[in-house]
Amino acid sequence: MIYDVYFSAFNGTNMCSMMVSSAFRGECARFNWRREGERKALSLSQEDVLVFSMPVYGGFIPSLCVPLAESLLEGDGTPAVIVATFGNRAYDNALRQMTGLLEARGFYVVAAGAFICRHSIFSTVAQDRPDSADRAEIEAFAERAAELAGHRTGKIEVPCRDDSDPSSFRGVPFHPDGRGNRCTSCGSCVRFCTTGAIDPQHPWQTDASKCIACGACIKICPAKARDYHMEGFMEARLAFEHKCASRQPNACFYAGD
Ligand SMILES: Cc1cc2nc3c(=O)[nH]c(=O)nc-3n(C[C@H](O)[C@H](O)[C@H](O)COP(=O)(O)O)c2cc1C
Repeated sequence: MIYDVYFSAFNGTNMCSMMVSSAFRGECARFNWRREGERKALSLSQEDVLVFSMPVYGGFIPSLCVPLAESLLEGDGTPAVIVATFGNRAYDNALRQMTGLLEARGFYVVAAGAFICRHSIFSTVAQDRPDSADRAEIEAFAERAAELAGHRTGKIEVPCRDDSDPSSFRGVPFHPDGRGNRCTSCGSCVRFCTTGAIDPQHPWQTDASKCIACGACIKICPAKARDYHMEGFMEARLAFEHKCASRQPNACFYAGD
């Protein structure tokens, strides 16, 4: 059985994870940890395979996924493939963090890929990625990962930017809201928000202390009311576009290489 466990708000990670898990011929169960109802305890055997895919937030995986991985995933010498998606800046410490989390839970990582997707805050950055060249790379990665999952080889080595602690990322200063007169108070964003940052009585507002800026509310809003309206956002977007203008490569690592 293939278990495809991922967190995806803006669809990039969902897309990449599905491309990888579908290369493993066999029955596949998918769990998007963005949805509370899909956060289930999973105990996997040596015959199973875990595909574990996360977006990079500030160089790490989303902080809410760390305790989920530590409490819900249990392997028994189970092969795992990890995928980090990132928005054309850098994946920094994410692959190392994911490898450490899974190894501590009884998995051995056979392949690790970092793939570029549209930036979910600054959505003009990497907006056409993954493109056809990226897809070919993801498919080749998935094929090799599927081959490696069949037999245990050496330990995987993945790069890491530094030894900083995941808690050093304190979130971004931007949060989407439904300012303006488009919000119809339909409540879709309230139901969709994974951290309860939107008050049902005032759905055009956002509690910045709870919001992780995943962008799910922007994507779901039927009135297209939610976006980054706050002061300084456009300037930050322009600066980020400039900084991340050059096309970054994907990266693939395999056990035994
Ligand atoms: C809070 C936050 C922090 C992010 N930090 C980074 C980062 O450090 N490096 C990077 O290249 N992209 C970063 N991104 C962009 C996401 O990693 C990228 O868009 C990812 O593919 C989103 O996944 P999704 O489409 O499945 O939601 C960040 C996005 C968010 C929301």
